[in-house]
Amino acid sequence: MNHSEEEKNFVITIDGPAGAGKSTIARLVAKKLKLPYLDTGAIYRSIAWLLNEKQILPTEDKKISAILKDFSISFDGSKVLIDGRDISKEIRTPEIDKLVSPYSAIKGVRDALLQLQRDQSAKGLVAEGRDMGTVVFPDAALKIFLTASAEERALRRYKERIEKCETANYDEILKQVNDRDNYDINREIAPLRPAVGCVVINTTKMTIDEVVETISSFAALAAEHRMSQKIE
Ligand code: DC
Repeated sequence: MNHSEEEKNFVITIDGPAGAGKSTIARLVAKKLKLPYLDTGAIYRSIAWLLNEKQILPTEDKKISAILKDFSISFDGSKVLIDGRDISKEIRTPEIDKLVSPYSAIKGVRDALLQLQRDQSAKGLVAEGRDMGTVVFPDAALKIFLTASAEERALRRYKERIEKCETANYDEILKQVNDRDNYDINREIAPLRPAVGCVVINTTKMTIDEVVETISSFAALAAEHRMSQKIE
C-alpha cells in the first residue's frame, strides 16, 4: 500500500478472543502493508502489572484513577515501557494472564486508555485487541474479527509455552482461555464482540499465511472503496 495523503489514517482493526492468532497476524499484516502496529492487549497487561505492583485491587476505583492520571507508557519495537521501565517480559506471565481481565473491565481504566490508543493512528494503523472495531476505531477502513475454537486456541498457547521451554498443562490452559473469554465477553463496558460491518474470519483450520493473505485482500478492497468514495 502506498502512503499517499489519503492513506495516512488508514486503520485496520483486528479483534477477537485470546489465542485466536491476533498478535501474529496483526504484526504480519502491518509489516506487509507498511503500517504501524498497536498491541492494545500489551497496554492492558502493562496497566494490570502496574496496579498489581502497587498492590491496588480492581475494586479500589479512586486509587486506580489517581495512578492512571500520572503514568507514562511507551513502545519501542515490541518492547513496552512503563514509566521508563521495560516490562515486556513481566506482562507475559501466567499471573498477569489471570489478573488482566478484572483490571481491564474497569471503566476508569478503559476511559484513561481511549485517547492514548486513538493517538497512535495518525500514520495509519493495524490495531489489535478486543474493542478496536466497536469502541476505539468504529470508523476504521477495515474491521476484522478473528476467531478459532477454544480447543485450538488453547493448543496454540500450549505449544507456544512448550516451545519456550515453559511448563504447560493443556487442560489448565483451556480452562484459562474459557475463563478469560467469559470475562471479556460478559463485561459491561466494551465487551468482546464483532463490530458492526466487520469481516469474521475463523482461523481454526487456516494457516497464518492464509489469514494474512485474506486480510490483505480485504485491505486492498477497503483502500479502493475509500478512493472511490473520495472521487464520487
Ligand atoms: O490480547 P491479550 O491476550 O494480550 O489481552 C490481554 C487482556 O487485555 C484480555 O484478556 C482483555 C484485555 N484487553 C481488553 O480488554 N481490550 C483490549 N482492546 C485489549 C485487551
